[in-house]
Amino acid sequence: MQVETSSSKYGAKHYPDGIRDWKKEGNYFCFYTTETILEIRVIADKIIRFRYAAEGSFQRDFSYATSDTLEESPIAFGIKEWEETFEIYTDELKVFIARDNLRITISDKEGKVINQDEMGYHWQHYLLKGGKIQYCSKLVQEGECFYGLGDKPTELNLRGKRLENYGTDAYGYQKDTDPLYRNIPFYYGLHHGVGYGIFFDNTFRTIFDFGKEREDACSFWARGGEMNYYFIYGPDLLEVAESYTKITGTPELPPLWALGYHQCRWSYYPDTRVKEIAKEFRKRKIPCDVIYLDIDYMDGFRCFTWNKEWFPDPAGLIKELAAEGFKVVVIIDPGIKVDTDYAVYQEGIKNNYFCKRADGALMEGDVWPGKCVFPDYTNPEVREWWSSLFKSLAETGVRGVWNDMNEPAVFEMGSFPEDVRHDYDGEEVSHRKAHNVYGHLMSKATAAGMKKYLMPNRSFLITRSCYAGAQRWSSVWTGDNVSSWEHLWLASVQCQRLAVSGISFTGSDIGGFIGEPDGELYTRWIQLAVFHPLMRTHSASNETGFNQEPWSFGPEYEKVVTKFITLRYKLLPYLYTTFWQYATHGTPMLRPLAFVAQTDVATHNCSHEFMFGDSLLISHVSEKGMQEKAVYLPAGNWYYFWNDQKYAGAKEIKVKTPLDEIPLFVKAGAVLPEFPEMQYTQQTPVTEMLLHVYFDDTEVKSVLYEDAGDHYGYKNGQYNVIRFKQRSTAQQFYLKKQFYINYETSYKNHRIIVHGLPFKPTTLVVDGQAIALLPENLLADNTVSFVVPRNFEEISMK
Ligand code: GLC
Repeated sequence: MQVETSSSKYGAKHYPDGIRDWKKEGNYFCFYTTETILEIRVIADKIIRFRYAAEGSFQRDFSYATSDTLEESPIAFGIKEWEETFEIYTDELKVFIARDNLRITISDKEGKVINQDEMGYHWQHYLLKGGKIQYCSKLVQEGECFYGLGDKPTELNLRGKRLENYGTDAYGYQKDTDPLYRNIPFYYGLHHGVGYGIFFDNTFRTIFDFGKEREDACSFWARGGEMNYYFIYGPDLLEVAESYTKITGTPELPPLWALGYHQCRWSYYPDTRVKEIAKEFRKRKIPCDVIYLDIDYMDGFRCFTWNKEWFPDPAGLIKELAAEGFKVVVIIDPGIKVDTDYAVYQEGIKNNYFCKRADGALMEGDVWPGKCVFPDYTNPEVREWWSSLFKSLAETGVRGVWNDMNEPAVFEMGSFPEDVRHDYDGEEVSHRKAHNVYGHLMSKATAAGMKKYLMPNRSFLITRSCYAGAQRWSSVWTGDNVSSWEHLWLASVQCQRLAVSGISFTGSDIGGFIGEPDGELYTRWIQLAVFHPLMRTHSASNETGFNQEPWSFGPEYEKVVTKFITLRYKLLPYLYTTFWQYATHGTPMLRPLAFVAQTDVATHNCSHEFMFGDSLLISHVSEKGMQEKAVYLPAGNWYYFWNDQKYAGAKEIKVKTPLDEIPLFVKAGAVLPEFPEMQYTQQTPVTEMLLHVYFDDTEVKSVLYEDAGDHYGYKNGQYNVIRFKQRSTAQQFYLKKQFYINYETSYKNHRIIVHGLPFKPTTLVVDGQAIALLPENLLADNTVSFVVPRNFEEISMK
């Protein structure tokens, strides 16, 4: 062991010395130095887990992040002994462990270095607070870029930044405020076109330095716990994202309505106001599926109660709204009002469910209801109790829950003091270890309760705070943002970053939570949010009386906003398919350009453009008065959505940005499914599904996923997966379809619109049958529209 002295609150730095012994058991290997043990576990050919025991013994191997379904599936692996190193190899990777100091070098099978320790693993006693600070430092490779880390409101590429994870109620945060609400200790590295990821599964405060302190070092550390990280090899960044999601889990499919438009405000009350809002949407023909009730629906902010004066008949209200196609989502915070007449407080006290300080006193603090106590969600029994509380809400008709203030937030104190005790599933720890999973486990218990009581319906949950892996049960939003142009830009970066950090089901408060947007800002924000998996307007306009509904900014803006919310609904089959790809493979729904064209350095620092799913590229308008925008198109061919103009990529182009358009491109060759216009999901059975096919003379594949949009039949195979392959040439259009069909759709036919044909077609052949093309089939010289039965297999056109 080598020791280096350091500052007073921290002890000396300890570095491992030489390897004295090693062993192999199944798919894991242990290397012993005088004091340190390194365990390397081959999880899969491209996933290796590293765990270090600082002083000879490991802590409990337990994680709130990893999914139960994670299978360790290495195909082939082994170990070689070299003079200076050990080499653990798989079919894809080589991991070299230096005999002298345990330093790690990971290369691909050709020997190209992917990731290399600088000082590698080392630790320090945390003299001030106890335990050990666990460090790992890596060399920054030439040209390396870094991505990931959850909701950080800063440029997409994190090179040169230091950031930390310690869930914080960051009301009115700004660019570069850190930390924010979520704790996702997972980052990507990209250099020489090769991508990898590191997931540091440690719930203490974690800090990541991407070459800020020392230009050539990328280091990460935690103020306690264990050095325990997963190395994930791509080389494709999207594959890294998928593997990360294999480790931390994928969500179930949401109810289709949750992908519709959501309207929220702090707060809509009384019930008559809620009904008025709902009526207004239908009257103005602005699609909407969800209305939220913020804290004022409760009786004195007591969770699981209703304000009797403002909401005398909640079940009746929800039923009335349901008849108009609205679902209701209600807020539930963790703070339980100290009130001896309040059943939730009584039960929690009786059963010892609330968090306590180190000296045994209850952890009390002020939140909305005044003095509160807080359930210890790290205790499985408390989680079970918490889940059971949702029975009455579900029975009242509530279809979704919004968990807030769960960093946990406490007025004046900020959060809990570090001495607060937690069960941590039987481990008994201080708040230092439990802080970053508090909201995570609250939302887990909420989701379990709602799922149970809403069965057979799917439920919906949105949470403010969480740890890695919460995508398994919740969506998130970016928190208390501000009505400013900068925040519109931040919303875009934050949602992209969350998506590549495992949490695709995300959105921002459209228009900004704090402050008042003007019509232009609100409209531009709506336009971006069409392409965010969660689309919700929210504002804190209670006090000012300012309204932030789609019609609040006058007819000119209302018209454009309506056009875009309507577009959202038309795109639902595509959105839902993209969600299915995410739920099935872990593929992020939002993909930064660097993730779709990683060998093209022009994409590496691009924060403002992204792809939504396989086929749509969005470059949103984020400046007031912007008339024209430069857009970088990655390699390939692209159609401008609004006029079908075709562009070749790998270059920057300029497009006009009138108020009613944003730069939106469709990948050439793609098949883009479209619903008819609707006011809410499943308003009426869809009778014809449109397929837009964008001609290209390269082979391009697309997919469409369909199921009932609710219930769990899809888990028993009741769904359709339809795969399209366009293989056209300059002289002939050709589309082939393959499908798995086990769900009866309400529509029997597809209307197909082929865009961008390079010739004027005269013959159309569907499954071997020639069909005459009439003048009305030609929408324009290069656009053809026709109807075919849903079960067609092959279409050609000359
Ligand atoms: C928090 C939430 C916000 C909510 C408010 C009142 O600030 O982030 O969305 O409206 O509390 O519940």
